[in-house]
Order: sequence, then structure tokens, then C-alpha cells
Amino acid sequence: MNKNLDRNKLPKHVAIIMDGNGRWAAKNGLQRISGHDSGVKSVQEIVEEALDLNIPYLTLYAFSTDNWNRPQHEIGVLMNLLVKYLKSEFNKLIKNNIRLNTIGNISALPKLVQDEVKRVSEKTKNNEKMVLTIALSYGAREEIEDVVKKIALEVKNNTISIENVDQSIINRHLYTRNLPDVDLLIRTSGEQRLSNFLLWQIAYAELYFTKIYWPDFGKKDLHEALLNYQNRERRFGKTSEQINV
Ligand code: IPE
Ligand code: IPE
Ligand code: MG
Repeated sequence: MNKNLDRNKLPKHVAIIMDGNGRWAAKNGLQRISGHDSGVKSVQEIVEEALDLNIPYLTLYAFSTDNWNRPQHEIGVLMNLLVKYLKSEFNKLIKNNIRLNTIGNISALPKLVQDEVKRVSEKTKNNEKMVLTIALSYGAREEIEDVVKKIALEVKNNTISIENVDQSIINRHLYTRNLPDVDLLIRTSGEQRLSNFLLWQIAYAELYFTKIYWPDFGKKDLHEALLNYQNRERRFGKTSEQINV
């Protein structure tokens, strides 16, 4: 545990763009696939550490809508890894009181993955120490498109009136309807972009970019990100004086 870290000032919701598996593999003279394999170990370590720190919401970007454009073989490996991860972590999720949640177009996933996601989500649905959300076949623009369609339909059916469409209604239609806004967004691998992740939910998130490739990202790197977060002043549009009264 980093001695400078203040346990009382931790973010409630940490979201991570787990990037750099392929480059990590290339750097180590391995195939991209081995990078994904090693990335799973980082997932395990970070989930465990977030749990230890009592961070109640952890959201991981595992597969984007645009990742469907990757070579079939790589997609297949990623899907198999997902099933393997869910099967192997199941007991740990139960033991550690973690609820598995997913966001994204789950119906686009192979049946095997869908079944496993449904099984684990159902069996962990009453767990309450941490909500672990995995973004699968996720795209923020697709999510917003879905929200607009759902609200439009409700207006058409007179379930809600157009005057009542506000931010809270939008929030309630997002895939993240049960999650608070993101406080800290981490992206590994050195890229400084969002790649269609949680565009609405990160309106006031603190952004943290590190050059470390995801398979090398461990608990001390998480501590560093959290420490960096704690040293920022979140003003939400106000002045510094207003914040520090
Ligand atoms: C992140 O690593 C994993 C997924 C996007 C599924 P990448 O596979 O994108 O690795 P790089 O960016 O090519 O190094
Ligand atoms: C973002 O990484 C998606 C995930 C980490 C799952 P990408 O590697 O797909 O993003 P780009 O292509 O570099 O923007
Ligand atoms: Mg990448």
C-alpha cells in the first residue's frame, strides 16, 4: 500500500481502457495473442487491488464495437479468453462479493460468451462489495444511439412527454444506468484518446494516461494513478475558492 495514498479520498468509479496488449507482445518477441493472455493477469491483479481499496465501481473496456474489425483469429482468441476468465474467476467473484455487470451489445457476442456472461451476472447479482463492469462489444456512440431510440419510442407511445426528457431520463436509459459517473479514467499504452468509450459518463472524469502497456500494469501503477487523482482539484465549473471554503 502506497503510504501517501489517502484511503478516504479514493474515486468511487474507476474506468480503464486496457490498451497495449499487442505492443507488449511485440516488445517481448511474442504473438499478439500472448499479449491478451498476459493482459488477463493484470485484470486479476487490478480487480483484487480495487477490491482491497474498497473502490465500489470498476469498469473495464475489454472489447469495442470497432474491435470486430480485427482479424477473425484474434477475435476468436479474445472471445475464448473471456469465457475462460469468467469460468476461472467465478468462485472468486462469489467469495469476494463482487457483482459482474456488462455494458455493450451483448447479443452480438458468440452464444458461448453470452451464456457465460448471463450465468455469472445472474449468480452474482446480489453481491454488493464491488460492481465489476466489463464493456463488451461496447461503443459510446452506439449506446447513445440506443438511448435516443428508446426515449423516442417512449415519447411516441406517450409514456413520457418531450418536456420531461432531461439528463436524469437520459442517464436512466444508458447501459450504465446503475452506475455513478466515472471519477477517474485510466488509459494504458500511451495513446491519449477515448476510442469511443463512455463519452457521456466521463463529462467530469479526471483523465490519466500512462505509457505502460496493459500486461505490465500492476497494483503499484494503479496506486500511482490514484495518487495523481488525489492531487487534482475537481472544480465542476466553480472557482477554487468556492471549493476550498
Ligand atoms: C488492448 O490491446 C486489447 C483490446 C483492444 C482487445 P490491443 O490489442 O489494442 O494492443 P495494441 O494497442 O495493439 O498494442
Ligand atoms: C480501445 O483500444 C478498446 C479496448 C481497449 C478494448 P483499441 O486498441 O481498440 O483503440 P484504438 O484503435 O487504438 O483507438
Ligand atoms: Mg490498442
